[in-house]
Amino acid sequence: MATVDDPVPGPREVVVQQGATAVNSGDARLRQASFPDGFALPGRLAVGWSRPRKRVLGVDVAGTVTAVGADVHEVAPGDRVVGQTGLRMGAHAERVCVSVDHCLVRLPAGVSFEEAATLPFGGCTALTFLEAKLKVRPGERVLVVGASGSVGVACVQVARLLGAEVTGVCSGPNAALVRSIGAARVIDYTCTDIGKLDERWDVVVDAVGRLPVAQVRRLATARGRVGLVASGLPQMLAGLWANVTSRQRVVFGPADENPAYVERLVGWLAEGAYVAVIDSRHDWEQGATAHARVDSQHKRGSVVLTFP
Ligand SMILES: NC(=O)c1ccc[n+]([C@@H]2O[C@H](COP(=O)([O-])OP(=O)(O)OC[C@H]3O[C@@H](n4cnc5c(N)ncnc54)[C@H](OP(=O)(O)O)[C@@H]3O)[C@@H](O)[C@H]2O)c1
Repeated sequence: MATVDDPVPGPREVVVQQGATAVNSGDARLRQASFPDGFALPGRLAVGWSRPRKRVLGVDVAGTVTAVGADVHEVAPGDRVVGQTGLRMGAHAERVCVSVDHCLVRLPAGVSFEEAATLPFGGCTALTFLEAKLKVRPGERVLVVGASGSVGVACVQVARLLGAEVTGVCSGPNAALVRSIGAARVIDYTCTDIGKLDERWDVVVDAVGRLPVAQVRRLATARGRVGLVASGLPQMLAGLWANVTSRQRVVFGPADENPAYVERLVGWLAEGAYVAVIDSRHDWEQGATAHARVDSQHKRGSVVLTFP
């Protein structure tokens, strides 16, 4: 635990008193300076060699605006908001500065800060991949590998909301959860070697990154689309090669911290079409316990930090 200076908002920034935030796989990666294959050098140069240069990690914001910069007209002190700070981080502190030009939206009264904190990380990743990059259409068959993590539970729900028929891959104990959020079928990867399945899907999203790209592609139809959410340089090169040598389309890259996505996720949650899957709640001073749970790589949905 450390004490840092209170944030002072710039002209287009607000200060948010945090109600809740999430500890994500991305935060754990940054803490460990553990980057996808091929990105260790640029990653360490960008965020810090052996540990992050930023003292406070965290990107997900869910709380109340307490101060606004001189040129902010979109929100006012007292407004409940949800959003993301991007590479600026800092969301695991009681108070955080957020740019209104980056990713910040109002939160309706019926949505709790804990629920809101689960939305941006997985939800923006799911919308970036399934809607923007893979263009999932109603009636298509979508396979989500890693369906019980924070990206996975969002992918299952977003694919279902886009009208797809979803199959989720997770371990047996998480099958009921994945079915409950909209998967028509669940495949237990601990009993079934999914790389050897004969079945084919229109769209395959891999949110784990442990299967070789060739095996992930084998799960897609000849003209299928494949999303490599968790990919390093070798997987990206294999994807580019597939794009020029086959009729499949392979996509990868960073998720978009997009306020329009967060607005839609909040709307779905408020109308009961989307559920916040909370693995565990931790007092914000118990950050180490929360990180240990994320490090297990077996969390279900989001690990949430709560603030008094
Ligand atoms: N491209 C981007 O911008 C972007 C954005 C967000 C995340 N990511 C990456 O996406 C990956 C997933 O992130 P996350 O936050 O969802 O992680 P997470 O919440 O830690 O995912 C954990 C889940 O993965 C499942 N899992 C572990 N091994 C598995 C296997 N062999 N097969 C199927 N499921 C398995 C676990 O299910 P069981 O407990 O049932 O095994 C657990 O529910 C990470 O590598 C992260 O870095 C990329």
